Amino acid sequence: MTTPAPDSVPATAYQAEIYLGGLSGAVPALPTDLTTLEQLAREKLDAGPYGYVAGGAGSGATMRANREAFDAWRIVPRMLREATKRTLATTVLGTDMTAPVLLAPIGVQSIVHPDGELAVARAATELGLPTVLSTASSYTIEEVAEASGPGARWFQLYWPTEDAVTISLLRRAKAAGYSTLVVTLDTWTLGYRPLDLDQAYLPFLRGVGTAIPFSDPAFRAGLAVAPEDDLMAAVGRWVPMFTGTALRWDRLDLLREHWEGPILLKGIQHPDDARRAIEAGMDGIVVSNHGGRQIDGAVAALDTLPGIVAEVAGQAAVLFDSGIRTGADVFKALALGADAVLLARPYVYGLALAGQHGIRHVLRCLLTELDITLGLSGHADATTLTPDALVRGRP
Ligand SMILES: Cc1cc2nc3c(=O)[nH]c(=O)nc-3n(C[C@H](O)[C@H](O)[C@H](O)COP(=O)(O)O)c2cc1C
Repeated sequence: MTTPAPDSVPATAYQAEIYLGGLSGAVPALPTDLTTLEQLAREKLDAGPYGYVAGGAGSGATMRANREAFDAWRIVPRMLREATKRTLATTVLGTDMTAPVLLAPIGVQSIVHPDGELAVARAATELGLPTVLSTASSYTIEEVAEASGPGARWFQLYWPTEDAVTISLLRRAKAAGYSTLVVTLDTWTLGYRPLDLDQAYLPFLRGVGTAIPFSDPAFRAGLAVAPEDDLMAAVGRWVPMFTGTALRWDRLDLLREHWEGPILLKGIQHPDDARRAIEAGMDGIVVSNHGGRQIDGAVAALDTLPGIVAEVAGQAAVLFDSGIRTGADVFKALALGADAVLLARPYVYGLALAGQHGIRHVLRCLLTELDITLGLSGHADATTLTPDALVRGRP
């Protein structure tokens, strides 16, 4: 699938736009240091939604480790290498993108802004980046496809226990133009999340983030009464179905059988699992620990990336998420062998703070910083970075 490039201006155009705007007294509506957005979102959102987005498993050790792992790598700038003209564009599993950045699947986005996943899809299309729609979306597969328009879109599957529902979701995603399937494996049951537990806050139980199953004919066929008339009965059918899945490697055949496009497994953290994904006929993996939301004390996602790349590079697409906050982080993940990264929490904070405009701002900042970092460290192509662009910094 081809996403039309929004324009041919370099990502750094945003930097120029901001400085020039200053001549007439304008400053950006949101900060350009994306690491500051979480605090602003905290001030704006109610405690429930804020905790749901920002919170992690247990004491938050894995979330912190994800960030520390980025800090442990330092970029080594090289000089006089003619990096004035740069390219960020790439193609992953047949999907063209203006930069190696996708918008990660994030569920229940209407808890932070009523436009939720629709605004995300529109902003992604505007910038020529693919969006990955979550099964736990606040809007249906078809509604988000319409908002995405000509943009590239992938579908993330929380794999239901009932095959008829799984097959129906895949059929709908295909019909609505989603090219690639991302199967999330690390959330077959919810992690232990104190911020949510302390507030007894789980949006799904209130029928939020359930637009996709509730609009699904195969799911509805198993209900005596429609979700519109008996919300709790529908919730009672869905929650055990999508969090209680007994997954096995040999069950991947079902997905292969019903999905013709590329399939990636999300949540891979061990080289052996990456190898098994390939043996099972998968096209790629997303190295991820779900942003530290599942296992407290788990290894930082970035620390697992080099070993996984060594095991499967060239045989499968290797994508990465968990801890990406800045353009420099994107640079580091690419240098360590990721083909592309998924941006997650920062764009949700942009959505919370300013809807589609906020997401656009976040994405433009990220791409601008990536572009500048690339050039200033002597590289002209984001897709050809190698580990020797980095060294280990002091702990
Ligand atoms: C609020 C929230 C909801 C999420 N929902 C989903 C989801 O529905 N499906 C999924 O595969 N991953 C989901 N994730 C995980 C993200 O796709 C991604 O792996 C993670 O957020 C990366 O960590 P980071 O945000 O710290 O960079 C969610 C993450 C957050 C913060």
